[in-house]
Amino acid sequence: MARIFSGIQPSGELHIGNYLGAVKNWVRLQDTHPGAIYCVVDYHAITGTYDTAVLRARRWGMAKSLLAAGVDPSKAALFMQSDVPAHTELSWLFTTLTPLGDLERQTQFKDKSSKMESIPAGLLMYPVLQAADILLYRADSVPVGEDQVQHLELARDTARKWNAKFDQPYFPEPKPLLTPTRRIMGLDGQAKMSKSLGNTIALHETDEEIWAKIRPAVTDPQRVRKSDPGRPEVCNIFQLHKAFSSDETQTHVAQQCSTAGWGCMDCKKVLLEGMVLELTPIRRRSEELDAEPARVLDALADGAATARAIAGETMREVRGYMGLDVLA
Ligand code: TYM
Repeated sequence: MARIFSGIQPSGELHIGNYLGAVKNWVRLQDTHPGAIYCVVDYHAITGTYDTAVLRARRWGMAKSLLAAGVDPSKAALFMQSDVPAHTELSWLFTTLTPLGDLERQTQFKDKSSKMESIPAGLLMYPVLQAADILLYRADSVPVGEDQVQHLELARDTARKWNAKFDQPYFPEPKPLLTPTRRIMGLDGQAKMSKSLGNTIALHETDEEIWAKIRPAVTDPQRVRKSDPGRPEVCNIFQLHKAFSSDETQTHVAQQCSTAGWGCMDCKKVLLEGMVLELTPIRRRSEELDAEPARVLDALADGAATARAIAGETMREVRGYMGLDVLA
């Protein structure tokens, strides 16, 4: 059976972009793929500037939010990347196979480094560490959002190169598992929803906070008056309906919108109902975990033990194939 692996940076709260693009799929896949492995990638999160106290709080917050969102430690291993040192070891081995040009061409590297005066080498190596995350568990399926597809291409190249160089069909070529909500746009409708752009709705926000954000959110720009028929297919709010509303509600909303007379506020109120229905239980579980932090720590400790056992076996074999085992 396919092994599922995925990761998320502790770079802020879990928002509905992460949730709909990836984490909701993690939760679904843990039922169909026993032994799925999910990782909070804190070593990736230090490739930019950061504050240590903030990072500490975010590592904790992300682990808690993933459990609140439905990751179940009895079905999947959840752990902190820095608790399994083999990630950096395998990453080093992979740097010896990765062409510099392939790393310099990565879109995310180009975007981030263009805003920096001094570029840390770790930022360039970011996708090599990501390839190591996945291949350490010899995972073949990686539930992610669309923005990770290029990084996964590099992970596939790495697997292919390693297998060819050491003449072993050892690493599978991991493929992305995308959902229909693979690219959630921010509330400004201009760019991908992302913490760094400040256009997110976090999973733990209250109903009032969510409404304060969706009320002014951009809709179909051609719909100026209530009497103008809207175009659900280009409306960002309708994209969110597709994620949060039932099929019946989506059909109803689309009909109302394209026949005019129904205001965008009416449509947004219906969306709010769907969001509240889905997000309230997550918020509640998060509050419960705040009161019982040991549940988070226990889940992470168990997850790290499971991960270390698999990773240790991979590293033993990889070192052997690469001539790094016994002294002749
Ligand atoms: P990160 O932490 O930025 O995002 C975590 C997951 O959320 C998805 N995502 C989105 N999906 C749809 N619409 C959006 N607006 C949106 N924003 C974020 C991302 O695609 C991702 O699946 N490099 C990775 C972390 C990583 C990783 C890995 C992932 C490190 N190692 C190994 C998979 C496997 C990242 O920065 O994701």
